[in-house]
Formats: sequence, C-alpha cells, structure tokens
Amino acid sequence: MTETAHWTPAHGEPYRPVPYRPDRMPHDESLARAAELRERMQGRRTVRQFAPDPVPEQAVRDAIACAATAPSGAHQQPWTFVLVRDPDVRRRIRAAAEHEEQVSYDGRLGEEWLAALRPLGTDEVKPHLTDAPALIVVFQQRYWLGADGTRHKHYYVDESVGIAVGMLLSALHLSGLAALVHTPSPMRFLGQVLDRPENEKAFAVIPVGYPAPDCHVPDLVRKSLDQVLVEV
Ligand SMILES: Cc1cc2nc3c(=O)[nH]c(=O)nc-3n(C[C@H](O)[C@H](O)[C@H](O)COP(=O)(O)O)c2cc1C
Repeated sequence: MTETAHWTPAHGEPYRPVPYRPDRMPHDESLARAAELRERMQGRRTVRQFAPDPVPEQAVRDAIACAATAPSGAHQQPWTFVLVRDPDVRRRIRAAAEHEEQVSYDGRLGEEWLAALRPLGTDEVKPHLTDAPALIVVFQQRYWLGADGTRHKHYYVDESVGIAVGMLLSALHLSGLAALVHTPSPMRFLGQVLDRPENEKAFAVIPVGYPAPDCHVPDLVRKSLDQVLVEV
C-alpha cells in the first residue's frame, strides 16, 4: 500500500470507532509538565537573522510530522509542506518575495499596516530566505482533486492549516530550532516557483535554522494570561 492510500479519506466512509484509552497522567506530573512547557514556549521568538549553519534535517522532518498530526476540518488534512534546501530555489524565492515586498513597503500596504510593522523593524530586504539553511513552504489545499480531476470541497481550511502551523512552530522551537512565519503578499509566486498543483495556495514561508550570532529581535511584551483568559 502506498503512503497516500493509508490516510482515512473520511468521504462517505462509514463510522468505524476504535478504542482510545491513553494512560491518564497524574495531576502533579501534568502540572510540572505544563509549567515547564509554558516556560519553554515563553522563550520562543521570531528570528529574522539566521546563521547559515546546517540544521539536523530529521529534526525538521519530525517537526513537520508533528504538524501533520493536527486536527483538521472533517479530517481532510488540507496541507502540504514543501521543504526547500536547494540554494538556487531559495535564491529564486527570495528574489520573487523581495520584488513583492518592495511594492508592499512602497505603499501597497497602506499607512496603518506600515505603522503596525514599524516596531518590528522589518523592510523589503529578506536575507532570511537565503541565509536560513531550510525553508518550509506551507500550502493549503483549497479543495481535493480526485484522480479523475473532480474537485471535492475541503472544510475549515484556514483554521486547520493555522493550527498545523502552530504545532509546527512549537515542535521546531522545542527541538531547539528557530523559525519565522513570513507571509509575503501576494504569495502566488511560491506555487509557481515550487510547481505546486492548482488546488494548493501558499499559506506561509517558514525559514528554519539557528539565530545568527548577532541576532536581534524587537523588544515585544506579550499579553498577560489575565488579558487573554476569561474564565466562566
Ligand atoms: C500569520 C503571521 C504572519 C506573519 N508574517 C510575517 C512576515 O511576513 N514577516 C515577518 O517578518 N514576520 C511575520 N510574522 C511574525 C510576527 O511579526 C511575530 O510573530 C510577532 O511580531 C511576534 O513576535 P514573536 O513571534 O517573536 O513573539 C508573522 C506572524 C504570523 C502569525
């Protein structure tokens, strides 16, 4: 059986329940793990200056495998992760992204958006696309293409892919790797450079690597728990 034949299509299949009985974690262990995870996740930062040093490739594949465990609308798993290491392809992606970003920063974004970006110190120059040793380009499958070319609807694609990318970022960070979610707009060039099928739409480019020795990040403060949590 091929890899692709393995996933549950879910489309018109009958309900086939299987037992699910994971070991229950004692409360004190849950508390200790949650506190440690909270602390480690606080240390995650978006990195825009990368060292060219190679990363352990299997760690990146494992992080993508973690992302692919994400829940998805009707279990349609509407995502594709393209792992780009080829320097020439990274150069082409950078050239196309910088072309779009130039237009954006020259005014397409509008003053309100530019003002929101100012504290982040970003501009149209995107060295991370060639400095980071790997790029994960995430595509959403807007619909599913059957073997005979028929289109099948996918549900909650934005939500599903957003959750998967969140899990990807967590997995990369907890594996000791730095990343950036880069969303050049428009992103159509990514499908063209990477020769993706018509049902796929680029969602983000995620450079992965280690921070450069002189890496700086903006001095940002996150909302506190009581600003984001409402308990009823
Ligand atoms: C959907 C999304 C799109 C983003 N797009 C960009 C981008 O195009 N360029 C960039 O430099 N950062 C981008 N970021 C990164 C954010 O600016 C960053 O997450 C935010 O400033 C908080 O910083 P932190 O990740 O270090 O906590 C994006 C983040 C998200 C979630």
